[in-house]
Amino acid sequence: MRINPSILNCDFSNLRGELHKIRNADWAHVDVMDNHFVPNLTMGVPIVEAIVSASQIPIDAHLMIEDPDRWAPQYAEAGAQSVTFHAEAAAAPLRLARELRAMGVRAGIGLKPATPIEPFLDILDEFDMILIMTVEPGFGGQSFIHSMMPKVRRAREAIDRHGLDVWVQVDGGVSRATIEIAAEAGADTFVAGSAVYNAEDAYAEVEHLRSMVAGHAHN
Ligand code: DX5
Ligand code: ZN
Repeated sequence: MRINPSILNCDFSNLRGELHKIRNADWAHVDVMDNHFVPNLTMGVPIVEAIVSASQIPIDAHLMIEDPDRWAPQYAEAGAQSVTFHAEAAAAPLRLARELRAMGVRAGIGLKPATPIEPFLDILDEFDMILIMTVEPGFGGQSFIHSMMPKVRRAREAIDRHGLDVWVQVDGGVSRATIEIAAEAGADTFVAGSAVYNAEDAYAEVEHLRSMVAGHAHN
């Protein structure tokens, strides 16, 4: 079970210090937004490179951008060890996933809340991770959408049925109040932004969230 804090709402004027707080996490989740795929703008390749060099843990890049076919490989080159692009934005998701894997990084595919999982169930082995959004992408601090749990369950069932090693990530509104619900449905990789960075002690919150799901391990 992996805890990947999102640094979206951290203090960017103290990037190194903010990353140091979550050194006990599994991955640092970095939200790249382009103001087209989502109505918000965050960062591009140079900042991701800076995050990679300042972080003690690997970077899980979540690309909420148009035309990932063109741009995603640059985030692998920048040093992100996992690159997730959105199904709704990719023209050729299998070609892109294969290209990322050939670069030696993990390839993830993300689904917005209204995107069904069924078209992806037969091609899950093309990816290292499936990201099931539990909020509409664009902003931190939104409420967990509980009706995404059947989608998580269907992904988990297909992965287990075919004996695949594909991680199931949930992102958005994950906190002490919701993480066990997602784990019970079949998620094994948890993004938590405001829950970690608004906590008094981010390091301790990562430990707490991990201990809450430790008993639900999959595979
Ligand atoms: C939303 C981002 C999330 C977000 C999570 O578009 O993809 O990673 O930062 O933040 P919380 O945990 O506050 O919902
Ligand atoms: Zn994200």
